[in-house]
Amino acid sequence: MDRFEPNLRIPGPTALPPSVRVAGGRQMINHRGPEFAAMLERILTGMKPYFGTSSDVAILTAAGSGGLEAAIVNVLSPGDRVLGVSIGSFGDRFAKIAGIFGADVTKVDAEWGYAAVAEEIRERLRAMPDARAVLLTHNETSTGVMNPIADLAAAVREEAPEALILVDSVSALGAVPFEMDAWGVDVVVTGSQKAWMAAPGLAMVAASPRAWAAMERATMPRFYLDLRAHRDSAASGQTPFTPAVAVAYQVDEGLRLMDQEGADAVFARHEACAAATRAGLVALGFELFADPRHASRTVTAAVVPEGLDWKAFNGEVKRSGVVLAGGQGKLAGKVFRVGHLGSVTLEEILGAFSTLEIASINAGRTVEPGAAVAAAQAAGLASYGIGARASAGMPA
Ligand SMILES: Cc1ncc(COP(=O)(O)O)c(C=O)c1O
Repeated sequence: MDRFEPNLRIPGPTALPPSVRVAGGRQMINHRGPEFAAMLERILTGMKPYFGTSSDVAILTAAGSGGLEAAIVNVLSPGDRVLGVSIGSFGDRFAKIAGIFGADVTKVDAEWGYAAVAEEIRERLRAMPDARAVLLTHNETSTGVMNPIADLAAAVREEAPEALILVDSVSALGAVPFEMDAWGVDVVVTGSQKAWMAAPGLAMVAASPRAWAAMERATMPRFYLDLRAHRDSAASGQTPFTPAVAVAYQVDEGLRLMDQEGADAVFARHEACAAATRAGLVALGFELFADPRHASRTVTAAVVPEGLDWKAFNGEVKRSGVVLAGGQGKLAGKVFRVGHLGSVTLEEILGAFSTLEIASINAGRTVEPGAAVAAAQAAGLASYGIGARASAGMPA
């Protein structure tokens, strides 16, 4: 498949738009000079509306997991009681990090494929009045479930007003609306390689005034990830340590593209691509893994059906230029995932379904040629609120 660019349909790293690729190849600059300072300021300011905060954002040279670790170690102390709400593999990871650093973690686990339930969180919190923090996953990438963070945060605020709410939004922020301040969320983490259309390497962490205050009291060990050092350096246009400059170029350009398109259009595009993906998979006869009430708008998981030789099927799909993600953790071999976040377009989703349709027919599955592409297109257009005959009005 060297003649074509692969249609990278994994839930991150996501494909880079051409101008982002060019940005990443630019010459290095002095990271302690004015050009970097201006870029850092653009990124930190430009991110705030997507976080839905007027509070400070920190940018770390780290994978998303580094951002999760920063969230934990900056606001907690060993022995603090923490409620780790997990709906999949990444929720487990968040809770595990807290435990490793000495928090006293109580877990509440949803059945994989389902969202967390506000009432269950309330019940758990009633039994732990001294809870210092609640860990939530916004978008569980392993199952394709998007938690209703506004509702869950409201439940925490009511039941345990003192508890800090830490949210992993690594695979959602930038693709869907988020209102950190309005929802009373204290720390939110995201990563450059997801909705931001950049390479992996930067984690962005926003903290509420409560969380910034908590950092002064928290005693978990931290050095590289001390968010106060990042905030203080940012005030003079710098990062405390050498940043991933090339990734910063890309995030800067990605943000410019997102703002040019408009945040609402970005969110609508993600919704349309998610609707198209779900409809296409169903038309191909696949069962969707996630509870439809909380289906993710950035990644869709489908069950690998009995009798389908997944390895052979996926091999053909890959040779045809579409890269899917397999299952993670206990879902390995049981589900596959289609990523639809970042620079994704409806046309790319339709292209993926054309390939999946042919591979399905070749695998002996009963599929009417064109049916999945048509179903995906109709659902995508319906999501935009227009009929199949109209133009999708996709951004240039
Ligand atoms: C929801 C979620 N949290 C955390 C991570 C971890 O990010 P990273 O792999 O960059 O450490 C991911 C990565 O896929 C994710 O999807």
